[in-house]
Order: sequence, then structure tokens, then C-alpha cells
Amino acid sequence: MEEQIDWDSLTFSFTPTDIMYVAKCKLGEEWQTGEMMPYGDITISPAAGVLNYGQGLFEGMKAQRSVNGGIVLFRPERNAARLITGAERLGMPPVPEEMFLDAVEKVVAANARWVPPTGKGALYVRPVLWGTGPILGVSPAPEYTFMVYVCPVGPYFKGGMHPISLKVSDEFHRACPGGSGGVKAIGNYAPGMMPSKGAKKEGFAEIIYLDAVEHRYIEEVGAANFFCVKDGIVYTPELTGTILPGITRASIIDLARSKGYEVREEKVEIEFVLQADECFCAGTAAVISPIGAICHGDTCTMYCNNEVGPVTGELYDALTGIQTQVEADIFGWIRAVPMPEIEIE
Ligand code: PLP
Ligand code: COI
Repeated sequence: MEEQIDWDSLTFSFTPTDIMYVAKCKLGEEWQTGEMMPYGDITISPAAGVLNYGQGLFEGMKAQRSVNGGIVLFRPERNAARLITGAERLGMPPVPEEMFLDAVEKVVAANARWVPPTGKGALYVRPVLWGTGPILGVSPAPEYTFMVYVCPVGPYFKGGMHPISLKVSDEFHRACPGGSGGVKAIGNYAPGMMPSKGAKKEGFAEIIYLDAVEHRYIEEVGAANFFCVKDGIVYTPELTGTILPGITRASIIDLARSKGYEVREEKVEIEFVLQADECFCAGTAAVISPIGAICHGDTCTMYCNNEVGPVTGELYDALTGIQTQVEADIFGWIRAVPMPEIEIE
């Protein structure tokens, strides 16, 4: 008998599901046809490029149960495109968009029982692209593996739409010009774990990183993009190559403009942010998470009395409304997951 899932206690944590997808490609050749298989451990050479030199990328997107009954994805073509850009940067064979979308849809459909009811969470989809062939010299691995697995998830930050407190790091940076900050390289994430853990020990939910050159401008919030609102204008750091081009970020910019807000993508100084009216961070996992307070050194600013700001709330409702089809898909962002016909005996 299938186990019952307690949808009300979902957090952003790992749960093994039923089915995963695996495809392989030798360097310089075409991708072989991928296979669906039971979720489980894989074998890998200890000399694999991904294990020794971090030749790996990942993606993250969510499948949601629509209020219309089906299962839908949010702009998965953007994830496919970002993986292609990342593959170029890390010297890996790109996964063609069609293959990526087909794998994602098949894995979601095969794990449909793990998609939470509308409003209770989402099925987080994790595509990965790794250099799995053995290599000793620092150069691209001879073989690559593209996999997709899924996990049901709840809120990324504890408490969901509850404002979080963040600390600006004066010690650490996430990325530097010319580095890999603009792609979803696996190696970008481990260096953030220790700073993040330290911030959590002090009672903050995450770190805000400033730029590595002048240490003046906001870059990102851990694994989410940053927004603030001042005098009715929405600001977000411009993409300079060190910031991950978030799909949620791009969508919020379009949504806010469609609602009549002026949106400025520019360098956003921390001093300016400490005077802002509202702040929030945004990403697939984080959705739109309101920021209640930001501390930089001895200065702390509280926003909206530690409550959800009006613009943050409006954009959250608009974004999640489209993602679950409560609202009309006016931008064409939703992609329905085709479900295989069930044979009735
Ligand atoms: N910034 C970083 C470093 C991330 O890892 C993510 C998550 O993917 C984001 C921002 C948000 O991007 P997206 O909205 O595409 O999930
Ligand atoms: C996402 O929002 O999809 C992320 O990648 C965030 C994190 C879990 C790394």
C-alpha cells in the first residue's frame, strides 16, 4: 500500500520519490536516449569530473497542482535555456531544450502522486548535468550524465509568508566578475553554507551578499534574488554576470510593470536599501519571501513593522495566482504536464 503523505507538514527538504530520468552523452557525441527508472542510488567513478573538479550544474523548478485539476510547470523553457548557458560556461555538452522539457514532463507525470494539493506546496523538480566520466587532468570529463528527480516541498524559509531577518555579510562574497556566479554551477553553493549557518546561529534566516569589487551593492540573498520598493518604485540589482538570472526575478519585473509599477534594474546600494519601504527576495524555492529586517554591522532596519508590505503582497498574490492558475496566464508562462492515459480494465 502507498504511504500517506502529510501535506500540511511539508518543508523544503529531501524526500525520495518513485521515478527518475537518466541520460548519458560522450564528449563530442550526441545525447543517447534517456531512460526512466526507479529513484535510487547511482554508481559513479571516483575520478568523475563532477566529484573532483565540480563540473556540474543544476536547475530548480516547481510543478504545481492547478486549481483546474491538472499539473503545471512555470516557464520551464527558461530553465532549459539557463542550463544550456551554464553548460557552455563549464565545458559540458548542452542538453537540447526539447530533451530537457520531455524529461521534466515525464518525471513529473510519473511522480504525479507526489504533487501536493494546490496551496499546500509543490513538486520541486531538480535537473542535474554532471561530468561523470573519469578524468585526472583539469579538463572536461569524457562522459556526461543528465538526470531529473523530484521532491515534494513546502516553504523554503520557515513560516512561509512570514517576514525574515537577513544579515549583510562584510566577510564573504558569493561571486566575482568573470567567475561562475551567473550560472547555476554546483560549486557556487558549498561556499555559502558556512556563512549561512553562521547567520542562522545569530537568528537570521540568510545572508545578503554585496558585490565583491566595491562591497557596496546588493547582489543576492543566498539562493534568491533581491528586490526593494521605495516611493512606489521597484528596484532590483541589474544582471552584471555575478548574479544568477532568476526566472522568478524576470517574471516579477514583467508582473510589476504590467501592474503599472516603474521597475529599475540597476546597481542597488546597501545604504539605499536600509532606507527602503519594503524588501523581499525571490526564487523558485523562496517564491516571494518578505524581508522584515536587514542588519548591516550595527545598523538594523525594520520594514513595514515586520509585516508583509503591500507591494510584496500584491506581487506574491499575482505570481502564485498565475502559477496555480487561480489567475489567467496572461503572459503564457504556464505549461501543462501531459498525463499518460490510464488504462481501465
Ligand atoms: N539566485 C541563486 C543563487 C539561486 O540559486 C536561485 C535559484 O535558482 C535564484 C537566485 C532564483 O532563481 P529562480 O527564480 O530561477 O529560481
Ligand atoms: C531554487 O530556488 O530553485 C534554488 O535553486 C534554491 C536552492 C534550493 C539552491
